[in-house]
Amino acid sequence: MPSERMEAMRVAVAGGTGLIGKLVVRELGAAGHEPVVLARAQGVDLVSGDGLPARLAGCEEIIDV
Ligand SMILES: NC(=O)c1ccc[n+]([C@@H]2O[C@H](COP(=O)([O-])OP(=O)(O)OC[C@H]3O[C@@H](n4cnc5c(N)ncnc54)[C@H](OP(=O)(O)O)[C@@H]3O)[C@@H](O)[C@H]2O)c1
Repeated sequence: MPSERMEAMRVAVAGGTGLIGKLVVRELGAAGHEPVVLARAQGVDLVSGDGLPARLAGCEEIIDV
């Protein structure tokens, strides 16, 4: 369950496999949210936009580290 009475959210994390991003992903998960990684390894290229619309489906927030 999310902490601090916050509703669970699906949250996109740009660069979520990186040094900083993976810590953000870990903290989101620990707080009960659903992190969605945006990275080329997940089929999303943030320069070209390839794969982005599908990956953002259902996301309520985006964190860009
Ligand atoms: N690490 C530090 O000490 C530090 C300090 C100050 C500021 N920063 C800033 O914080 C940010 C993240 O740093 P970091 O050290 O965590 O970087 P990192 O470990 O190199 O990770 C970069 C992340 O971005 C993704 N990425 C790169 N190009 C992409 C693209 N075209 N489309 C989608 N995803 C892409 C990578 O995944 P894929 O390769 O799979 O795409 C990876 O998840 C950077 O802007 C950096 O300048 C870092």
